[in-house]
Amino acid sequence: MNDPTTIRRLYGRRQGHKLRRGQSALVEDLLPRISVPETGALDAGVLFGDAKGSRRPLELEIGFGAGEHLAGQAAARPDHGFIGCEPFLNGVVGALNHIRDDRLDNVRLHMGDALDVIERLPDASLERVYLLHPDPWPKARHAKRRMVNDGPLDLIAAKLKPGGEFRLGTDDPTYCRWSLMVMNRRRDFEWLAHNAADFLTRPADWPETRYERKARRQGHEVWYFRYRRA
Ligand SMILES: C[S@@+](CC[C@H](N)C(=O)[O-])C[C@H]1O[C@@H](n2cnc3c(N)ncnc32)[C@H](O)[C@@H]1O
Repeated sequence: MNDPTTIRRLYGRRQGHKLRRGQSALVEDLLPRISVPETGALDAGVLFGDAKGSRRPLELEIGFGAGEHLAGQAAARPDHGFIGCEPFLNGVVGALNHIRDDRLDNVRLHMGDALDVIERLPDASLERVYLLHPDPWPKARHAKRRMVNDGPLDLIAAKLKPGGEFRLGTDDPTYCRWSLMVMNRRRDFEWLAHNAADFLTRPADWPETRYERKARRQGHEVWYFRYRRA
């Protein structure tokens, strides 16, 4: 990817508060067992050990935060494989808690940049990609850091199956306008909204995230965008 709007560098926090003993144990014991391999091509065979003729559909979440949406989707579709990417260690611990408590065996995690994983997947291999409350980078001079930019979107488009879905949620008015502008000029994504309720109301199969809850508490509006890969 040589597109200048693809920033291959992570900004933001990698760790918050110090981990408690139980949390460190989860990171040491469970995380290595369900981590995406560090290198090499990826598919449902590599990730979940599926045989060639019966590979499960794959879904991927970029920046899953504390993992509540990832876990909710994985519990709803146990026959699908879920890949969650998040560089923030305390968030990864949140996801590990859900995975252990809900006994989810269909989730793999990558503690790092989602683009590093997405580019290693075969083209047209993902059923869905989720990007919920991405870091807004509100200053114009930081706009290139936003995940919603043509560089990352080209990659997401390549890896989604035709008819696959890209879901984007935000409560940030600047990001909302920016996303509409960027997405509306793309020919490879079709916005699945027919009326305002379609993007103002959370779909039933869209578990609420921590950021979304916080945003609602603060009186923010939240926008839910669904795009179909053409
Ligand atoms: C504002 S938080 C939202 C978290 C979660 N999606 C939610 O709605 O609660 C944005 C998250 O994206 C993560 N993030 C930022 N850049 C990322 C990247 N390149 N790949 C994966 N995650 C990323 C951050 O670490 C952060 O946890």
